[in-house]
Amino acid sequence: MTAQIIDGNALSKQLRTQVAARAQALKIRGITPGLAVVLVGDNPASQVYVRNKVKACEDSGLHSVMEKYESSMTESELLARVDALNNDPNIHGILVQLPLPSHINAQRVIEAISPSKDVDGFHIASAGALMTGMPGFWPCTPYGCMKMLESIGYNLRGKHAVVIGRSNIVGKPMALMLLQQNATVTICHSATPDLKAMTLQADVIVAAVGKRNVLTADMVKPGAVVLDVGMNRDNEGKLCGDVDFEGVKKVASHITPVPGGVGPMTITMLLVNTLEAAERASN
Ligand code: GUN
Repeated sequence: MTAQIIDGNALSKQLRTQVAARAQALKIRGITPGLAVVLVGDNPASQVYVRNKVKACEDSGLHSVMEKYESSMTESELLARVDALNNDPNIHGILVQLPLPSHINAQRVIEAISPSKDVDGFHIASAGALMTGMPGFWPCTPYGCMKMLESIGYNLRGKHAVVIGRSNIVGKPMALMLLQQNATVTICHSATPDLKAMTLQADVIVAAVGKRNVLTADMVKPGAVVLDVGMNRDNEGKLCGDVDFEGVKKVASHITPVPGGVGPMTITMLLVNTLEAAERASN
């Protein structure tokens, strides 16, 4: 068996066309959905991510402002900027790029963002909304994974999903989203004694650790669906995920590649959340 590739670029293109159409409908009513992206410091990876987010906004007809600050910016200066953006009617979504310099308390900054503009879905109010099934913004990466499962018509009811990784940004929200769709969910992490014993039981595996070859072919039940959230470099410096793609694709029924899988979906769901924030603000 060779797995079917779930193409994150192709799915993103479809979804971004829908975003552009909904943005256009809002514009006719005099509202341009606006995202503010705040970058503090000169982390090279963050600079690339932020540029990609701003460009994606522009390509879909969303307004975006990028605010760049020196790494010497103080926490109170940043909190003041967040407050100003909370009160700016042209801004519907606020994203403060992480990581922040170590002298700034990232959690305090995230909690300062108005939950109605929390398009990253990192605020405690957003996490609580996801946990309880109330309306709120879902973190973009696991949300993108759910859209990928939806795109292949996958019904999670009664299926066993194994999430590898327990971060607040991916692993934990991913597990809650899968649970909401009636999967039986297992979360594995660095203290799980026998990862392979868990993954071999899984109908769906989400790998979100940030380490190469966390999931190899011998750990996958034939026909399982494998989503790879990892973003790593191999020995030649080439981008790769957490999954041994070449091996696992011979066993899985569906698999996401890296690059071109979950990565573009993360940005797409940021656009969806920003549009949703603007639509909610307009109603
Ligand atoms: N740093 C890496 N990924 C993300 C993300 O999705 N949102 C924010 N705010 N920072 C990040």
